Amino acid sequence: MAKIAVTDGMAQEAVSRLRDAGHEVDLEPVSLNGFDAVVVRSATKMTSEAIANAPTLRLIGRAGVGVDNIDLDAATNAGILVCNTPGSSTQSVVELTIGHLLASTRHIPTADRDLRSGKWTKNDLKGTELSGKRIGFIGFGRIAQGVGRVAKAIGMELHAYDPYLPREIATEQDCTLHADVNDVFRMCTHIAIHCNLSEETRHLVNTETLSMMPGIGADGTLCGNHLVSCARGGIVNENDVLFALENETLSSCALDVFETEPIGNHPLLQHANFHGTPHIGAATHEAQNRIGFEMADLLIEYFAGGVPISVVNRAVLE
Ligand code: MLT
Repeated sequence: MAKIAVTDGMAQEAVSRLRDAGHEVDLEPVSLNGFDAVVVRSATKMTSEAIANAPTLRLIGRAGVGVDNIDLDAATNAGILVCNTPGSSTQSVVELTIGHLLASTRHIPTADRDLRSGKWTKNDLKGTELSGKRIGFIGFGRIAQGVGRVAKAIGMELHAYDPYLPREIATEQDCTLHADVNDVFRMCTHIAIHCNLSEETRHLVNTETLSMMPGIGADGTLCGNHLVSCARGGIVNENDVLFALENETLSSCALDVFETEPIGNHPLLQHANFHGTPHIGAATHEAQNRIGFEMADLLIEYFAGGVPISVVNRAVLE
């Protein structure tokens, strides 16, 4: 039997699955000392200090995809396995990304604000279609491919920059893969961010890259330029995005993720052509249930002597 701490919540049925398998689950741990495993989402920061204060820990389970809230080197040095649930939230993030894109190009947040304040702005809210435009993906993993399938069905042309992606996968998805990220910005009026945050991608979306965007759709429509990110804060330079909205290089920006979360009072939030959500990409009943079950099964497997498939720091196993 293992002692498992859950710090940022877990679907009730998944907790029951762990308890039914004989494990002790604490949903309100005061400290991590004495626990064999901890399950975190993005709120808990597993810093080197937090890891040093948890000497009994053998596994950190990241209920979600991004592991940027975990000091992987510190975990590896301490011999702690880090596992995530990479596929469980894909569909939810795909749907949120498409929602944000449509909300931006059809002015849905502005229309709603106007309506609530008694304004009937029917003649001011002319949008543009996604159909006939090029969408450029920065990162073309599972989520981007899912967004790509929907975008394709709507009638968009797919472009991507992803130096880690085998070309055949892009070809299968009918997506043009570019070796130079700037080519994606140069060709696409709609950019969707789907890469990890790393030193390579920090502030990759900035004044320079945004200024390359064409503003005219592949179908000749003056659709402006649109940016959406449900990936990770820090890839998009928020001050540069505000500048680009102010000088109309960008027509809209929709973000689910921010450099600092919660974002607080950033002036970006006041811009009429910005709208956002508070990091809710994976916040659906379906995704949270899948994530919970995937995590519970992974913990059960590990404490029965197995090796979970989604180990992030394989060096611990060597
Ligand atoms: C993830 O990395 O899984 C998502 O950003 C969801 C989250 O952290 O809440």
